[in-house]
Amino acid sequence: MAAHIRIPQTFIDDLLARTDIVSIIEPFITLKKTGANYVACCPFHQEKTPSFTVSPSKQIYHCFGCGVGGNAISFLMEYEHLDFMDAVKTLANQSGMNLPQQSATKQPSGDTNIFYILLEKATKFYQNQLLKHPQAKIASDFLKKRGLTEKTITQFKIGYAPPGWDNLLRKLNNNDKYKKLLLTTGMLIQKSSTSIYDRFRNRIMFPITNRSGKIIAFGGRVINDNDTPKYLNSPETPIFHKGHELYGLYEARQANRNLNRLLLVEGYMDVIILAQHGINYAVATLGTAITTNHIQKLFRACPEVIFCFDGDNAGRIAAWRTLEIILPLLHDNWQAKFIFLPEGEDPDSWVQKIGKKSFEELIQNADTLSTFFFTHLSKQINLQQIDDRARFAQLAMSYIQNMPDNIRKEMLIDALAQKINMTPEKLNNYIITNQKGSTKTTDTQAMHSPIRTVITLLIQNPQLIEQIDQELPTLDIAGMPLLRELYSLLKNNSQLTTGALLEHWRDSAEYQHLSRLANYRHLLEGPDLTAEFCGAIKKLRLQATESTINQLITKANTTGLTAIEKKQLQNLLKTKQNC
Ligand code: GTP
Ligand code: MN
Repeated sequence: MAAHIRIPQTFIDDLLARTDIVSIIEPFITLKKTGANYVACCPFHQEKTPSFTVSPSKQIYHCFGCGVGGNAISFLMEYEHLDFMDAVKTLANQSGMNLPQQSATKQPSGDTNIFYILLEKATKFYQNQLLKHPQAKIASDFLKKRGLTEKTITQFKIGYAPPGWDNLLRKLNNNDKYKKLLLTTGMLIQKSSTSIYDRFRNRIMFPITNRSGKIIAFGGRVINDNDTPKYLNSPETPIFHKGHELYGLYEARQANRNLNRLLLVEGYMDVIILAQHGINYAVATLGTAITTNHIQKLFRACPEVIFCFDGDNAGRIAAWRTLEIILPLLHDNWQAKFIFLPEGEDPDSWVQKIGKKSFEELIQNADTLSTFFFTHLSKQINLQQIDDRARFAQLAMSYIQNMPDNIRKEMLIDALAQKINMTPEKLNNYIITNQKGSTKTTDTQAMHSPIRTVITLLIQNPQLIEQIDQELPTLDIAGMPLLRELYSLLKNNSQLTTGALLEHWRDSAEYQHLSRLANYRHLLEGPDLTAEFCGAIKKLRLQATESTINQLITKANTTGLTAIEKKQLQNLLKTKQNC
């Protein structure tokens, strides 16, 4: 059962309508009023002159320096490191709105709080066993041998599940209700109606915490390296989804007031030993391959993430998979970097060998995403040969095309162009001609196309909807689907602000593009603005007319026109002359 609940978009529209972004940001940052907007030094990057702007009319913020931006929800997510649901909850609380009922009833078996309480009790029990159990010495000797200090053991709440089938069961099982709950959290296993036993036996216990520090699951490691499986994790439960959690994230946040980078490693022990050496910003996935969800979680927590892999072939493959997941999500302000350890080493062993300073030098010299991207792709390619260069370009472009339309994408295209001795314009043409029917264009001409002007001005000034007649959205022009969507949203609810409009695209590929248009500075005001808008609409009509004329002329020259089509062509030519 997924704990993820979809909140109706109308609720979000309503919520944003009742929220004032200025009053959300003000408690955190001192804003200074200049004209219609507020400015401040950007809280998301270091700067001396303010380029962080908050617009009360658009209900968005934007930094012209580092590119961050969004609506009130985005601000809480980025500044307070909240996830989407928690940001929505916070805003709902502040404006006295109740979350839609379904979100409460969809919660698994009622109250999740009791799960947290039980797992907290289990954690205490395991911690206590590590100190007091008669056989605890083998566990503490193991931890000592691995180099863990008392302080680290306490910090990560490491414990010991002693041998035996029912230690936890006997400790916590006060009544039938608890037994059920413990089964649901995966702490107990039921084989038959009479046989129920502890999942974790004779293992070192690593509690896994969620972002607010609540324990939601465990990883248990064997003490004797010959036993299997080496690690046993809690199963998927109502409060634990492996593909969503990162081990050590809560602890990293606790240790760093301002988290400015994270190091992604593979194992529990890597996170713990790194922290003990002062590299207290490492996190790990829980034995699963990295997911889109992980990537978003990582970059929501901070803008720079260094992905650490083994230096062997498997490590290279895992790194490339990670890059493939990042590319289509890559924001302009995300910094993804890659480091590779010598063969046979993991972060745990390597930091113990070389120490904090050298390890951090390794991080300092990490490959950037684009370095890794191009080195990996050019591995078996000789860039001196034309055929190879073409294959290389093709391969690289097949990845770049999936990226959101942003500065990063353009920079990768520029870098690729340089490597193959071609101009970026030519490469861009190549994308355009290869994505037939796609509305994506990267040439500078398109920056000022009428459709772009209309979308830009409309998303910035929703009241301009009044200037659009019903027929416009039906025209068949590249880029129209997006305008059509904007149009129908505003037709349904003319009160939507720029920030509320953007919210409708939060998880879609067009978000970056739209958000860039929402912040585009055109310096138009009042009557000029309306005139520019109407002018662009007129151009759109002309464009549509011309395109139909061209189609008809082509048809006239090939298969010929019907009488109706001839009439249509004449009319269109007349319309065009009058434009
Ligand atoms: P040490 O071997 O004690 O250094 O632990 P480690 O954390 O470095 O483990 P390792 O490098 O072997 O594996 C990396 C991660 O993969 C672990 O932290 C686990 O999350 C996961 N993992 C390893 N072995 C198993 C296993 O047998 N089962 C499961 N489910 N996960 C495992
Ligand atoms: Mn290890």
